[in-house]
Amino acid sequence: MAAARSRLRSAAGPAAPDPWPTIMREFEGRPADLVPVLQRTQEAFGYLSPDSVRRVARWLKLSESDVFGVATFYAQFRFSPPGRHRLRVCLGTACHVKGGVQMLETLERRLAVEAGQTTPDGEYDLERVVCLGCCALAPVVTVDDAIYGQMSVLRLQGLLDEHAHA
Ligand code: FES
Repeated sequence: MAAARSRLRSAAGPAAPDPWPTIMREFEGRPADLVPVLQRTQEAFGYLSPDSVRRVARWLKLSESDVFGVATFYAQFRFSPPGRHRLRVCLGTACHVKGGVQMLETLERRLAVEAGQTTPDGEYDLERVVCLGCCALAPVVTVDDAIYGQMSVLRLQGLLDEHAHA
């Protein structure tokens, strides 16, 4: 568990340099660059803030509503800051059969959020995914980059307790 915790990503840390000059060097600034520019912007900031949408629109000479419209079309973009930790529950076939839904319901109850939401304290993003590629370990839950297989409700509760007290 200590190793797993050490892999947890953290939002804390020294202030990062402004990523905009780098992003703007990577593209030609054409309207056709919109989706890759949004992807790069989200990679740099973790989400698309209203300020980011405004800057991208001005740079690519598009309207803010056009940029927002395209961004909301794709499920990959988020418009609020990500939680410090990312919890994913697999509901692919193997995990579904082995109790994935129970894992998700346990997390939803415990964290008082639904899949797709971030806890109000900004600690966790809860996501449901289709297959994590390790079906033999079903049911699978991940915390950031750490994979936890053959989960049970009891083990999941223990995992959350450890995180809460880490
Ligand atoms: S179905 Fe869950 S890892 Fe493949």
